[in-house]
Amino acid sequence: MADTKFVPRVFSGIQPSGGLTLGNYLGAIKRFVEMQEGEFETIFCMVDQHAITVRQDPAVLADATRELCAGFMAAGLDPEKSILFNQSRVPEHAQLAWVFNCVARMGWLNRMTQWKDKAGKNQENASVGLFAYPCLMAADILVYHATHVPVGMDQKQHLELTRDIAAKFNHDYGVDFFPLTEPVIGGAATRVMSLRDGSQKMSKSDPSDMSRINMTDDADAIAKKIRKAKTDADALPSEFAGLENRPEARNLVCVYAALADMNVDDAFADIGGRGFGEFKPMLAELAVEKLAPISAEMSRLMRDPSAIDAILAAGAGRARDIAGPILRDAHEIVGFAG
Ligand code: TYM
Repeated sequence: MADTKFVPRVFSGIQPSGGLTLGNYLGAIKRFVEMQEGEFETIFCMVDQHAITVRQDPAVLADATRELCAGFMAAGLDPEKSILFNQSRVPEHAQLAWVFNCVARMGWLNRMTQWKDKAGKNQENASVGLFAYPCLMAADILVYHATHVPVGMDQKQHLELTRDIAAKFNHDYGVDFFPLTEPVIGGAATRVMSLRDGSQKMSKSDPSDMSRINMTDDADAIAKKIRKAKTDADALPSEFAGLENRPEARNLVCVYAALADMNVDDAFADIGGRGFGEFKPMLAELAVEKLAPISAEMSRLMRDPSAIDAILAAGAGRARDIAGPILRDAHEIVGFAG
């Protein structure tokens, strides 16, 4: 049996479908880098098996996976300190997901807001994989006995389901085998919103490129998108509470604070009372200062795809060393012979 005294271990994943956005960076990757420097063992995954729950062009998917790995490293993840790999190379994820397909209930998955949003009115035509997606996500996490999972706010419901699956498995089989993983959702920008509509999440699938900042945008594109970002006519208030009914202004302030590594209240010392004519150029300058070096480093790393493949292969080997024994124990608990 694996040791059930769980080591502090972080797991998180990002889909290699479309490029990285500022939302992915502030909500997830920046937090990954902070946790890598803490007391945790850290594992970060390019979840290519999740990506194919909706149609992907095979030629694009492989490159998008490498680009995501380049983005991880450019932002500060170090393959010596963190395990970096793509999900499809570690078959233990899909194997444990099958067990979880048999633990989770249809009703649980039916209630997932992401399923309802993505399948919409066309559920009959959605893939079985899209429906079962949260079971694979639970397996991603629990096959490492991960104790902490840094994510943006939109993943909260999936992490609650992961805990439900772990608890039901433990209960059904009378064991204390899977940890109840803690979501880590924090920082000033847990939900970065569209630059065109403060009620919508910033997303790589939004048809308007002006709605988001891509991690590959150059300085001119970043500055232009911030200049054109939707706002209202008023100046910024003197404290955060004054932004309650101003979603677009609130979003830009949260992005500013997150990029500046400040909490929102401290950010008001710099920006409180300023009009957008002043604040937007400050934000653009800060965004370019923080993001341009990442995008330049990503392009440099992408010039050597075989070096990235070698990093992914080494990471997969290390990941399997952890996942293999945990999967074997789970199989034994379930009653699989051999
Ligand atoms: P994905 O690929 O949609 O997003 C990756 C990470 O980026 C965060 N994020 C945001 N955070 C703040 N504001 C935004 N606008 C924003 N957009 C995206 C997400 O919250 C996420 O942390 N199901 C997951 C991938 C996954 C996973 C896992 C995550 C698969 N297995 C296991 C954690 C643990 C997803 O689709 O994320």
